[in-house]
Amino acid sequence: MSTEREQVQRAAAYIKEKACEVGVPLADTAIVLGSGLGFLADRMENALRIPYAEIPGFPVSTVASHAGVLSVGTLNGKPLMAFSGRFHYYEGYDFRTVTFYVRVLFCLGVHTLMLTNAAGGINEGFVPGDLMLISDHIKLCADSPERGPADPFFGLRFFDMTETYTPRLRELAKESAQALSLSLHEGVYCFMGGPQFETPAEIRALRLLGGDAVGMSTVPEAIVASRCGMNVLGISCITNMAAGVIRGTHINDDEVTEVAGRTSGNFSALVCEILQRLERTDA
Ligand code: HPA
Repeated sequence: MSTEREQVQRAAAYIKEKACEVGVPLADTAIVLGSGLGFLADRMENALRIPYAEIPGFPVSTVASHAGVLSVGTLNGKPLMAFSGRFHYYEGYDFRTVTFYVRVLFCLGVHTLMLTNAAGGINEGFVPGDLMLISDHIKLCADSPERGPADPFFGLRFFDMTETYTPRLRELAKESAQALSLSLHEGVYCFMGGPQFETPAEIRALRLLGGDAVGMSTVPEAIVASRCGMNVLGISCITNMAAGVIRGTHINDDEVTEVAGRTSGNFSALVCEILQRLERTDA
């Protein structure tokens, strides 16, 4: 039985070898494309596409709107690794499995992770189609992707979460939005396990606690990236108002995918601008 570190290293070695074979550079920046946002990977140049099913140890994404493909290449000339589709707790995977790929990225030397998602708007100032920069998160369930063995290779046993969503990256995202004349909210993302959407009472409770948006992803990954010392940027596409925010309406997944698709122009422009500015900052 191999250790978690060995499994992670095996997956990383596979990706490295594939990229090497075709002469594609490995990036130090990765992006995870949430529901309906996977199209961005199609805009990458010279991309090597690796289905998750080929990567040793990778789980298989079971969500229809998540392609399950890793693209390694460049976006507007900037090296990038893009994950079209992620793994969710509601699919039946435990948090450790959901975040396996983040540990693989750490092993590959990635230091900047952009996490995107579709989310329900709790803040009444939001409308579907808005974008929200994640300033912080709330996770009420007790489980953690870091519960269990604490291999020091991936960081400390007890680790700080004060600045999980890197302030410098948040500033960069705000500057990018401003340069594009795009409106970008900032707020607190609440993790709920799903797969059911929330009840109106749950949403009222989350609002009282300081939540602005709600979704079923991102937080497990941000926790692992934080422990590994990676910089994290989180952006939510508000695809619907959360349960009960607009009286008499109901939530369905088709609406989530449709609005995410409709927002794709603004979303991809913002991501491209952030990537260009990242390059300037890193230089
Ligand atoms: N709740 C949870 N997850 C979501 C929602 C929501 O309202 N919209 C998109 N993902």
